[in-house]
Amino acid sequence: MARDYEESPSHGTARCPGTSWDDLVAADTKPMPGFLKEKSYEYMGSQPLATARYTSPDFFRQEVERMWPDVWQFAAREEDLPDPGDVVVYENAGRSYLVTRQPDGSVKAFHNVCLHRGRKLRLESGYSKDFKCPFHGFTWNTDGSLKEIPCRWDFSHLTDEKMQLPEARVGRWGGYIFLCENDTGVSLEEYLAPLPEHFKRWKHEDCTTAIYVGKVIHANWKAVSEAFMEAWHSVVTHPQILPFTGDANTLYNVWGDNVNLALTPFAVLSPHLDPKGKPEQWIVDEFLKYNGRAGGPDLDVKVPAGQTAREAMAAANRARYTETTGHDHSHATDAELLDAFVYNVFPNFAPWGGFMPNIVYRWRPWPDQDSTLMEVRILTRVPPGQKKPRAVPMHMLGEDETWSSAAELGALGNVFDQDMANLPYVQDGLKVSKTGEVNLGDYQEIRIRHFHRTLDKYLAKI
Ligand code: FES
Ligand SMILES: [Fe+2]
Repeated sequence: MARDYEESPSHGTARCPGTSWDDLVAADTKPMPGFLKEKSYEYMGSQPLATARYTSPDFFRQEVERMWPDVWQFAAREEDLPDPGDVVVYENAGRSYLVTRQPDGSVKAFHNVCLHRGRKLRLESGYSKDFKCPFHGFTWNTDGSLKEIPCRWDFSHLTDEKMQLPEARVGRWGGYIFLCENDTGVSLEEYLAPLPEHFKRWKHEDCTTAIYVGKVIHANWKAVSEAFMEAWHSVVTHPQILPFTGDANTLYNVWGDNVNLALTPFAVLSPHLDPKGKPEQWIVDEFLKYNGRAGGPDLDVKVPAGQTAREAMAAANRARYTETTGHDHSHATDAELLDAFVYNVFPNFAPWGGFMPNIVYRWRPWPDQDSTLMEVRILTRVPPGQKKPRAVPMHMLGEDETWSSAAELGALGNVFDQDMANLPYVQDGLKVSKTGEVNLGDYQEIRIRHFHRTLDKYLAKI
């Protein structure tokens, strides 16, 4: 059992000494948009979380019954199904859907279950002119209307109307397609606020999925997603990024119930390192070696005398992205060309903001409380005037394959392997915990607390 509610004497006001986000805003070579100067931290108490939230089949069942059907779930990207008849099989938390492009360009999500005797209609994404059940051949059009029942003379009790495939609500924003099982009355726009306002600068609708890798991780879906909600594990888990990462200088913001942000500065020295004997050029060199989104060590970026690593690296990225994408980056702040803007949308969707190639995470229980399908996409900007290419298919890693074996991830593969090395042992530890408690930092782990506060709101519903 969790101990009684505990208050922190500092109420979450303590911050890491040294460089602050305000210092970096002031030093940026471009004017920062208002929302990136915003502080939206809220102290939410310091009580421990019960480990059963991650390990109990009963808790998992409550999530399946009370939470998943009422939330907007990121089901597909537009470029996964560009043409009419394209279909994505999206499965999660005991449901299966056919997310289908219609002839008029709209998208519908049907339950992927034959209304005869219940076979799944499709097992894989692809193209289909109709949905024909492989058991007895009941067939539906891609708009969900009934097309054919073999031996229809035996089914005079089944009207076309009754045989329409059931649908989930669909919402679209920024090149992302979402679905929601129940009609909760909350539109996608309300659910995502204020995220769409922020992403107006970064236009994910102009991007396509250039890299897409997935793997099943043997830990609870919340434990896996929470490993990406704070930056301060870098001090031990990712020591190679400390030379260019303000890990403990990260800004954390929360908004409403569904959206939060970790803004981790790059091209600055970690406050954990002694700056003595570490010139600005060294910060840039390490950034190029290990950042993973920066372009690789073959890039030659020199820090001119009197400039910081941040200024020099941002100027190089500004020029490079303008050239390689054909989009004007003259308004892009240094922060948007360097830093990790990791947004999370409750419960399992995390798109990165900024102008570097944007990482997008999704986590789904696979299929229960002990395992997770983690997917990593990297979106790149499509040059103006060019047709958006179809998404690459997901590269599903096998049980024994490492993230670094996915060559397309570059230096990020190693970073994910470092994260994943912890997670099965987190799950094992949570199961055998003596105290039955998880303890959180008041500030750096506020996004985890925010997530659980929202989850509790769904679970408390009658
Ligand atoms: S179960 Fe689908 S046609 Fe019989
Ligand atoms: Fe990590």
